[in-house]
Amino acid sequence: MIFTVAVDGPAAAGKGTISKALARRFGLAHLDTGLLYRAVGARGGDPVAAARGLTPDDLARDDLRSLEAGQAASRVAAIPEVRAALIAFQQDFARREGGAVLDGRDIGTVICSKAEVKLFVTARPEIRAHRRWLELGGDEAQVLTEVIARDERDMNRADAPLKPAPDAVLIDTSDLTIEAAIARAADLVAARL
Ligand code: C5P
Repeated sequence: MIFTVAVDGPAAAGKGTISKALARRFGLAHLDTGLLYRAVGARGGDPVAAARGLTPDDLARDDLRSLEAGQAASRVAAIPEVRAALIAFQQDFARREGGAVLDGRDIGTVICSKAEVKLFVTARPEIRAHRRWLELGGDEAQVLTEVIARDERDMNRADAPLKPAPDAVLIDTSDLTIEAAIARAADLVAARL
């Protein structure tokens, strides 16, 4: 079975949690595509060379979750040659036998424009910043500033900007429990499987 679920949205909206839950529930493979850009940003040096030479070891670094790694990711993610170097890996992953969930910013619009299910997961910026702050600590106002700056950069870049695919289903998690958000997403997947 080839079956792709594309989950896009801004930082800390709940994409990762929803994607992991869908993968577990339906026995699908899961790829957090943000990790690819984080790994490229964290490697330093020439980002295009880093993207072309990315190895599984790069993805296993334990400093990739920080706010700084997120900002670095979003800067290298605006470079078209970096994005181009990462397309084949993501598309191969999406077409693997048994089905896959990919979460990111451009999965439903660019990487898997024919995905069977497309979700756009979002939430108000203050709520997303609060969640990120609970996870990472630091100064909450600063976290909000960084989340907004990263979203702006992701939405306004020329190549594969963050936006919902025309056929994506919107899930706003601002006022939903995580269980309710997962249930909503799972119903949409179950209806297409
Ligand atoms: O999802 P995550 O916060 O790990 O993503 C880090 C950054 O990587 C995003 O802010 C975005 O700039 C970039 N990204 C992207 N396309 C994707 C996934 C992530 O441009 N499919």
